[in-house]
Amino acid sequence: MKKLSKRILAVLLCLAVVFGGSVMATSAEETDAVKRVSVSFNGDATSSRGFCWYTTEYSDADVQIMKSADYKGSFAGAAVYSSDNIYQHRDQYCHKVTVDGLEPGTEYTYRVGDKSRDLWSEAGTFVTDDGDDSFSFITIADVQASSDENFAQAANTIKGAMATLPESEFTVNLGDFVNDCTNDEWDWYFKNFAVNNMVTTLAPAAGNHDGNITNKLNINVFNSMFNLSNPNTESNVNWVNGVYYSYDYGNAHFAVLNTNDMYPMSQSQRNWLVNDMSASDADWKFVIMHRALYSQGKNINKPDTIIMRNVLIELFDELDIDLVYAGHDHVYYRSVPVKGDEVVDGVTYVTENYKGEEITFANNPDGTVHILPSTAGTKRYGINEDAIDPIGEACAFHLSTRDMGGCFMTTVVDGDKVIIKSYLVDDETQEISLIDQYAIKKDLSQKEEPAPTDLPTDNVSNIAAYVSNIVSEIIGMLYSYIAVLLPQAIRGLF
Ligand SMILES: [Fe+2]
Repeated sequence: MKKLSKRILAVLLCLAVVFGGSVMATSAEETDAVKRVSVSFNGDATSSRGFCWYTTEYSDADVQIMKSADYKGSFAGAAVYSSDNIYQHRDQYCHKVTVDGLEPGTEYTYRVGDKSRDLWSEAGTFVTDDGDDSFSFITIADVQASSDENFAQAANTIKGAMATLPESEFTVNLGDFVNDCTNDEWDWYFKNFAVNNMVTTLAPAAGNHDGNITNKLNINVFNSMFNLSNPNTESNVNWVNGVYYSYDYGNAHFAVLNTNDMYPMSQSQRNWLVNDMSASDADWKFVIMHRALYSQGKNINKPDTIIMRNVLIELFDELDIDLVYAGHDHVYYRSVPVKGDEVVDGVTYVTENYKGEEITFANNPDGTVHILPSTAGTKRYGINEDAIDPIGEACAFHLSTRDMGGCFMTTVVDGDKVIIKSYLVDDETQEISLIDQYAIKKDLSQKEEPAPTDLPTDNVSNIAAYVSNIVSEIIGMLYSYIAVLLPQAIRGLF
């Protein structure tokens, strides 16, 4: 009898495993989840946003959206935006929907998914630009993690940033979101950074680890993680390595460069930057890019960086760029104002009380300041003391954040003032400490009228320029090595 009951129990257990297993398998199929949700700038920041997300099975692309003031826990009555921009990317499905017609200065609540399958993301929020000249944002760089744990640790940096600047209206990410650009890494990034990505708008820049033809032939990955307005998609192949785009926010214009497009930086992108910046009458002009022109990290003397410096320093001077936010070197660096690859002389400073705080402002300085907010992640490098001249001389402050913590930066723009503060989130205690700050006060009455240009931005028109650029940039790079780095190295021997 005992044997029989044991057998009955064994049969029942087998049935439970078989049916339980099949129930689990069925529910796994049914729980195709919406993941990798992002909202990014795409068009007019006061009225438009680009949504992007993934599913493992094919599904439609729908966004339900309503003003947060009207959201009471249900999307009944929400506006629905749909698109057929759905494509398979590395065995999963990428969905992109661009939403326009939004009201300025308004917080919206949304979810993304497939209406027909009732498959939805969690609810997210963002605010539209109200168009006035006062706003603030967070900047981070080079998370570049390769494990769930390291992404989780890097997420402590963004949590620290959100606690420090809760009124931030968007997040700039200077690239290298991931290390090896695998599906797992992107999943870990979006899972751990949802804490920020689901409550803000992103301005992402393509890093060399984020999908780059020279990095394990990972093509069109960055462009498939965010819905960005990509100029000249039809006539250019620049999206293969990343995306360049721009947006206005308040009284500032931001150009986000693709520094993977750079052997040498394509004439199309250079022309686009000139056209884009020349047409803007914004009070402030900012550039966001991954590879840095000024930095004291390990990459600064490499041929790709030198080629890019030769190309871009001149352009930034011509376009009166105020600030350049860059990454790639995983060290903290801030330059003094530079112009023509030289330190600007005679910058004066004025100390004023701003909202109860004594702040020292560079007073209407000429030139451009370059800043790298080290890394929000855990891969931190040392300072390169042999950086090409005049980078050392142009350095206002540098710091290796090794064994310290993740770094983030806050920027407050308020009319004629910009205030940047940089912080570390201690690895052990999560304590937040200020490591650097810089502020500019600008005489806006001296602003020049825009002088729009109409340079060709398609590849076909620029073929001759591409060929001559390659030759001249290689010669320029060799000149930098022979005329600048070699004498510097020889001096170092004595
Ligand atoms: Fe990088």
